[in-house]
Amino acid sequence: MRTRFIPRMDEANGQQKMRASTFIVNFKNYPEVLGEGSLRLAKAAAGLSWELGIDVVVAPPTPMLHTVASTVRIPVFAQRTELGEEGKSTGHAIPESIKAAGCAGSLLNHSESRIPMEVLALTIERMKSIGLTSCACAETTEEAVEIAALEPEFLAIEPPELIGTGRAVSKARPELLTGTAEALAKAGYKGSLLCGAGIVSGDDVEAAIRLGTRGILVASSVVKAQDWPTKLRELGTAMHVGKL
Ligand code: G3P
Repeated sequence: MRTRFIPRMDEANGQQKMRASTFIVNFKNYPEVLGEGSLRLAKAAAGLSWELGIDVVVAPPTPMLHTVASTVRIPVFAQRTELGEEGKSTGHAIPESIKAAGCAGSLLNHSESRIPMEVLALTIERMKSIGLTSCACAETTEEAVEIAALEPEFLAIEPPELIGTGRAVSKARPELLTGTAEALAKAGYKGSLLCGAGIVSGDDVEAAIRLGTRGILVASSVVKAQDWPTKLRELGTAMHVGKL
């Protein structure tokens, strides 16, 4: 039985401080990661987690969840989960099913897979009730504050216009990251703010951490990279910014 995956804390001057350590790789359905490709990328990600001591989470396509989760010892997330009943809900990837497949959690409300707020609320609640971790995505600061009230363990701010462009949110929209971090702190959000969209280099990651996020959600720059271990290490090492 896998332990629950939640944001890690550091002890600093007697104070508990959320560690900037979460690196989520969203495989999406890129041809490079369909079938066996998912296993190879997940193994490379697991190697990085072990090497750098950061939390690396992989989100492979749904058909590969069990195979990947039974192969690597890092948290595996579904890319979405649905609210069908446990029973007659043909075709729904319900929370109980992704848990049984070995997942530690799921991405929710990604720009490419949006759900209504009331469905998101019920899904986060149901996932919490069975020990699954939620990473809920938001497109704006306002939406992030609304979702924070649902207390997902992770909240990822991703402006859809930058997704897959190679123009990093931390460079093209720095005010979105600082503004969201401030708004969530004001709202008393206790989870971990991540960011995604267009992140391609270590420099993009360092900027994201410096602007107040606790980690990254990345897809194309990793999945499309010539050398997965090298790209993963470049982005992962940058998460130690301000520590080395
Ligand atoms: O979920 C992560 C994703 O939407 C970001 O995509 O390709 O810009 O890293 P990408």
